[in-house]
Amino acid sequence: MDNVKEPTASIREQIPRTAEREHSAPIFMTSSFVFDSAEEARALFADEAQGNIYSRFSNPNTDEFVAKMARLEHLDGGIACASGMAAVFTSMAAFLKSGDHVLCARSVFGSTHQILSTIFPRWGIDHTYVDIADEKNWEKSFKPNTRMFFLETPSNPALDIVDLEHIGALCKKHNVLLNVDNCFCTPALQKPAEFGASIVTHSATKFIDGQGRAVGGVILAKEALMHDLKFFARHTGPALSPFNAWIFSKSLETLDLRMERHSANALRVAHALEKNSAIEKVIYPFLPSHPSYALAKKQMRAGGGLVTLVLKGGVERGRKFLNALQILSHTANLGDTRTTATHPASTTHSKLSEAERQAVGILPGMVRLSVGLEDVTDILRDIEQALSQSDR
Ligand SMILES: Cc1ncc(COP(=O)(O)O)c(C=O)c1O
Repeated sequence: MDNVKEPTASIREQIPRTAEREHSAPIFMTSSFVFDSAEEARALFADEAQGNIYSRFSNPNTDEFVAKMARLEHLDGGIACASGMAAVFTSMAAFLKSGDHVLCARSVFGSTHQILSTIFPRWGIDHTYVDIADEKNWEKSFKPNTRMFFLETPSNPALDIVDLEHIGALCKKHNVLLNVDNCFCTPALQKPAEFGASIVTHSATKFIDGQGRAVGGVILAKEALMHDLKFFARHTGPALSPFNAWIFSKSLETLDLRMERHSANALRVAHALEKNSAIEKVIYPFLPSHPSYALAKKQMRAGGGLVTLVLKGGVERGRKFLNALQILSHTANLGDTRTTATHPASTTHSKLSEAERQAVGILPGMVRLSVGLEDVTDILRDIEQALSQSDR
C-alpha cells in the first residue's frame, strides 16, 4: 500500500489473509500464539525473529490498527492502549524519570491534569502549566530539566487553538519531546508531526471509533522513541483488546468521510447559532469570529465536530436547555455519529469553584456540542426549540 493516497490505505491496508480467504479482517481473539518449535520460541523471545508471542504486546488486530494510525499521523509506529487515558499516561511515563519537568498547556482533559498534578509529583516528576493565550512567554517556562511539552489543540471545551508550528520550533530548540493529544481533530484534519510533534496521543473512544461503542487509545511516535515506548508498554500492560482494535481499524475506513461531514455540519450549526439571540457567544475554530481563526485555517484541514456555545442566563439556562433537547443526546462522550451535548459547569466541572472554572475557561452558560452526522436541519431544529424552551 505504498503508492496510494491515505484514505485508500485506511480502507485497503489489512493483515494478511488467512487460509479461510476472508474479505474483511477476522478478529484474533487469542491471548497467546503457538510456536512451531522450541528454537522458534527461543528466537522470538530473543528478538532474533519477528512474530506474535502474547497479546499484551502484539496481536494482528492491534498491529493493523496501529499501522494505519501511524501512517495517517506521519509517524513511524506506536502502541494501542485500553483507553485514551492509558495512552496519555503511557505516552508520558514511558519517557519520564524522577527529576524531569513537563510543560503542559493549561486547558487539557481533567484526568491528564490529575496525572500531572497528583500522580507524577509522588514520583518526583514536576510540571508547569502554560497559558495558551500567553504564547510570547512560553519560552520562559522551559527549564534545563524540561523533557516533554504536552498539549491539546483545539482545547476542551473552550476550543482554544495552540500554534503548533511555534511550539514545535521551541521544542526542537530546547530538545524537548512535543506530545500532542490529537483526539479532537484526528489525523484526518490535523497532523501534529508535520509541525514537529514526536509523539501523538489519542483517545480512540471519540472520533476514531466514531460511533460511541468502544473505549481505547493509541500512541504514535518517531522511530527513535519506539524502543522505550514498547519496552514500557510490554512490561506495564496498557494493551488494547483485539476486539476493540478491530472496531477501531474498521472505523478508520470511514474516518476521512466522517470528519468531513462532522465539520460541515458543525460549521452550519455554528453559523446559524451566531444569529440566535439566546446565545452570547458561539466558539468554533472555523468561524471568522474565533480569535485564532487564521491559525486554525493554517493548521487544520476543517473545523472539526465540536462547537461550544455560551448561553445567556448561566448555569440555570444550561440545565433547562439540556432538559429540553429531544433529539440530541445529553451525554459526556463526544465524537459520535449522534450529536451530543454537555454542560460542563453543572456536570464534569461542577466540583470546581466558580473561580477555578473561570481559570480553566469554563463559563456558567457554556454548552459543548459534538455535532454528529444526522441531517443538519434536524440538529438545528432541536437546538433552536431547546433554546426557546430554556427561556421559560
Ligand atoms: C482530549 C481528551 N483526551 C483524553 C481523553 C481520555 O480518553 P478515554 O476516555 O478514552 O480514556 C478524553 C476523554 O474525554 C479527551 O477528551
